[in-house]
Amino acid sequence: MFKSPSVRVSAPAKINLHLGVGNLRPDGRHDLVTVFQALSLTDEVVVSVSADPGVEIRGEGAGTVARGAANRAWQAVLALAEHCGRSTADIDVRLALHKKIPVAGGMAGGNADAAATLVGLAELWKLDLTRAELATVAARLGSDVPFHLFGGHALGTGRADELMGVDIPHQFHWVVALDHGGLSTPLVFEELELLRARAQPPRVGHYPPLLDALSSGDPGQLALLLGNDLQAAALSIRPRLGRTLEAGLSAGALGGLISGSGPTCVFLCQDHAHALRVGRRLSGYEGCRAVKVACGPVLGARVVDRQGEFA
Ligand code: C5P
Repeated sequence: MFKSPSVRVSAPAKINLHLGVGNLRPDGRHDLVTVFQALSLTDEVVVSVSADPGVEIRGEGAGTVARGAANRAWQAVLALAEHCGRSTADIDVRLALHKKIPVAGGMAGGNADAAATLVGLAELWKLDLTRAELATVAARLGSDVPFHLFGGHALGTGRADELMGVDIPHQFHWVVALDHGGLSTPLVFEELELLRARAQPPRVGHYPPLLDALSSGDPGQLALLLGNDLQAAALSIRPRLGRTLEAGLSAGALGGLISGSGPTCVFLCQDHAHALRVGRRLSGYEGCRAVKVACGPVLGARVVDRQGEFA
């Protein structure tokens, strides 16, 4: 039986081990200094040739994700078509997103899906593009999209799209606590501006000590240096996240922080067995909707399967 050509791509989430937010720029964005880690919590994107173009979504939070022009993965289809001179009027591509990364959770699930779409579509269309070339398309889609092409650890500056890979030969183990709802990233940045106008919430320090802790492979040392300037803003909008952070520490985690703009909280553990123990204890805390265990770093968006005849 003829099967439409399709490519299955894994799309890992990210956390920011360090997220320093600079001042508001005239373009309405903030300069960032961040240390990314790609996590084993992944969405899956299947990119296929289809006479019925569009986006279908299942899994975690599927009902809340836009399916049309506002979907970042679909925007990635259009951006790559433009980049390689294809007409965007008659695109014969269908995306099937299987979500596991919490939607509006501060783990850049939409950006991960967009990066995976670029990787899958470049394969489907047999475009001979390097990851660096794809990263120029990715940067136009959203601040975190380029990181999701590479994964691992990286230092991000500018809008976090200027990346420098950081080679760390160690694995770190996390418990991920999903909140009952999502948080809007622009709203959290706005809240930070309000807080900064009223007072001076403390800012995270410099990132080099955190890179030293990563290089040492010692999670106890790393736990002391985790920091996120958006945390105060996320807590101000949703104070119950403070109780979630306390619950994770009471469950025995070495350290915890809000992931990106939140509301997902992540807790660093000694090893996989410790993460399972902390995760089991935290599962009894009703302030979070679900608890998962993950590790990082993992590779960025990558093809896991190909089907059908390619053009
Ligand atoms: O780049 P992205 O679309 O993911 O950003 C979402 C929102 O987060 C932006 O619209 C902006 O409000 C805020 N943001 C910011 N400064 C950045 C990145 C994002 O203010 N460097």
